Amino acid sequence: MAHFLTKALASAVATGMIGVMAASAQAAEPDWSKVPVKSVKLFYPGQSSSQWLRSTEHKQGNKQVPAGRACVSCHENDETDIGNVVVKGGRLEPNPIPGKQGTIDLAVQAAYDSKNAYLRFQWKTRNPHPGDAHPYLRFNGKEWKSYGGPRLDGDVREAKQPALYEDRLALMIDDGKVENFAVHGCWVTCHDGLRDMPKAAKPEDVAANPLLGQTLKKSEVRKFLPPTRTGESWDSTRSPDEIAKLKAAGGFLDLMQWRAHRSNPVGMADDGYVLEYRLSDDGKDVFASNKDKKTHQPKYMYDAKKVGVKAIRTEDLHQPGKPQHLILETNGVAFDPMAGWKDGDMIPEYVVSRAQAAGSAADNADVKGVWKDGMWTVVWVRPLNLANPDDKAFREGGVYNVGMAVHDDNITTRGHHVSFPVSLGFGAKADIQAVKVE
Ligand code: HEC
Repeated sequence: MAHFLTKALASAVATGMIGVMAASAQAAEPDWSKVPVKSVKLFYPGQSSSQWLRSTEHKQGNKQVPAGRACVSCHENDETDIGNVVVKGGRLEPNPIPGKQGTIDLAVQAAYDSKNAYLRFQWKTRNPHPGDAHPYLRFNGKEWKSYGGPRLDGDVREAKQPALYEDRLALMIDDGKVENFAVHGCWVTCHDGLRDMPKAAKPEDVAANPLLGQTLKKSEVRKFLPPTRTGESWDSTRSPDEIAKLKAAGGFLDLMQWRAHRSNPVGMADDGYVLEYRLSDDGKDVFASNKDKKTHQPKYMYDAKKVGVKAIRTEDLHQPGKPQHLILETNGVAFDPMAGWKDGDMIPEYVVSRAQAAGSAADNADVKGVWKDGMWTVVWVRPLNLANPDDKAFREGGVYNVGMAVHDDNITTRGHHVSFPVSLGFGAKADIQAVKVE
């Protein structure tokens, strides 16, 4: 025990997370050298929506996917071939990204004790630096404008904006209650009409939809599960009452994301779920917008007394000595519009706070990623037996279907690399069997 604490403390000093340590007792990590490694091949899926998978363009799949046949029954060890073809463009990728890799190898380890599940993930990044930058608000001499975006955005493709977006690791989890997730994984949530997908819904059509627009106040379509619709189309939405029944019966997926810019700086991951939309769990997220909707100015700036600067400049991106993240409790202070702003000053568009994260949305309170020698290592501690109605609680004896995804090199939406579904068992037979530790 004493040994574990010393190790944890040393790593907290190295990553500047001492404040985090004080805020919560950290769980003791298992000895990872004793936990088997499962290599999961992630591949670039392009626009392979559930509609495409059912279309005649998907030969053989068009009949077998609707019948519930597993992807891997036809595609065993196919990940490299599929990823390398799709990433180059063609029928499933209208905007190929030059030089993008077709696959990513994700090394996965799992362990558990009486309190927590411990998951460890490692993968190589395309860039020789951690992808921990995210869009900024940048002063142009007159006003604050968004600066940077993900590579699939038109402005970035046309070089009007630089590519800036955080690296992420996402887990989608089913406990057997979501139809076809065990066989089709993440693809059950992916449809035409979603942002960056074929036939992406128009904001005015989303706003007019009774569920997405009028009830949820959304302006785009994100992941959803088919039982929340009466038909194939994103807009055939069921009523809030019907959706509440699906949720109460466990017909939703957990979706949690470790984020290099918006959660890692405070040692957390977010916690959400997929049902009629991709939603956050109840409570408050670890990150929030730093843009004041009325003034279009930042809400917070860097505290120069603590980090030496009140803003950074483009040449400071990825520079270790300069603050890359705005953390409310350690380097943030209320924005001062009269602070003598110069053309090119930049402040993160999002503010991160462990202190403000709350409720079920803050369950992933011990998730830490370290980037070293071209590789992220993320250790994820997830409490067992969570009792929130928006979580898929890990339990001893349980088997879960998991879809894994990595967003690498300044990308969002479909620009990720994904896995076919894999099973994860805690004291039960599965593709990945968590090792019991004391
Ligand atoms: C009955 C067998 C079968 C099943 C089940 C199946 N596929 Fe396919 N899939 C194929 C075949 C065959 C091709 C190649 C078709 C072609 O080249 O025209 C293909 C092609 C693809 C491609 C395009 C690759 C390329 O070269 O353009 C993707 C992506 C894909 N499948 C994903 C999936 C996913 C995801 C699932 C599960 C939801 C799935 N498939 C289930 C048989 C299947």
